[in-house]
Amino acid sequence: MWLRTWILGLVLGCSALSVMAAEPMVLKFSHVVAPNTPKGLGAEKFAELAAQYTAGAVRVEVYPNSSLYKDKEEMEALQLGAVEFIAPSLAKFGPLGVRAFEVFDLPYIFDSAEALHKVTRGPLGQEMLALLEPRGIKGLAFWDNGFKSFSANRPIRRPEDLRGLSMRIQSSKVLDAQMRALGASPRVTAFSEVYQALAAHVVDGTENPHSNFYTQRMNEVQSHMTLTNHGYLGYAVITNAKFWNGLPGSIRAGLERAMRDATEYTNKIARAENEKALEAVRSAGTTEIHEPTDEERIAFKRALLPVHKAMAGWIGEDLIEDIYDETGFDPDALE
Ligand code: LMR
Repeated sequence: MWLRTWILGLVLGCSALSVMAAEPMVLKFSHVVAPNTPKGLGAEKFAELAAQYTAGAVRVEVYPNSSLYKDKEEMEALQLGAVEFIAPSLAKFGPLGVRAFEVFDLPYIFDSAEALHKVTRGPLGQEMLALLEPRGIKGLAFWDNGFKSFSANRPIRRPEDLRGLSMRIQSSKVLDAQMRALGASPRVTAFSEVYQALAAHVVDGTENPHSNFYTQRMNEVQSHMTLTNHGYLGYAVITNAKFWNGLPGSIRAGLERAMRDATEYTNKIARAENEKALEAVRSAGTTEIHEPTDEERIAFKRALLPVHKAMAGWIGEDLIEDIYDETGFDPDALE
């Protein structure tokens, strides 16, 4: 009798254990943009691959559109361990004490995606991610969005057209200096509040890659956009270092592989997503889109390139020089 009871107990115990083992580890990925953007699609791809490469041991839940945390809160939540993955714009690391990332905000520092990738895919990029470690953060990857355009409720043909306007910026000192160089007043605004701020005329204009502009419906509240391509917006995908280092090795390996593949996917689709969004803005017909002439482009460059020198003390002159060397950028060339 006791033997039967013992065997039954053992069987029940084992099946309870196997049920427990079948429960996936749930990890949260929070971000502030729409699902149909490069970052939104990248996060979904990572979730899909994380489940696949860990054979269902991990389930990544993606929270888009600031539905879990807004800009500032997501950084704090990551450090507290309340969320496992976030991918803030490189312009939002200053408040964490990592000013170096603001080098990506310098106007015109990358002539092309190819020049940018020399940094994000090379040793310099790895060195930059390592700067996060003393803050308890592990940098996993760089994800692209794209190049930004200025928008407002008036035509923007020359730098002077932004003079006196209140312009929404991300929390970056370099972007602050950029707007001041144009005679505009920069105003830091959380991404989740930009549409409202524009609609209520709290700010007059902004700068965005097309995917963010369109998916946040900014075309409804901005009558003009100029395809200035004056700066880059991209992301660092980050996690809490203590959480990451404490993962079982096989799970971490699966997640690393998922991140590698999701990064390749995101950076492959980013340009096309932005082109699609620009076409959608065009079709909506609410925003007049201006392609600057060569002369207008040079005028913007002339107005904005001095920001490199002005912000060298803030970012670090050596880092700026390293990026010039890596990409072949000539800060004196206006063409
Ligand atoms: C912004 O605030 O404009 C961007 O950082 C949003 C994003 O994550 O692309």
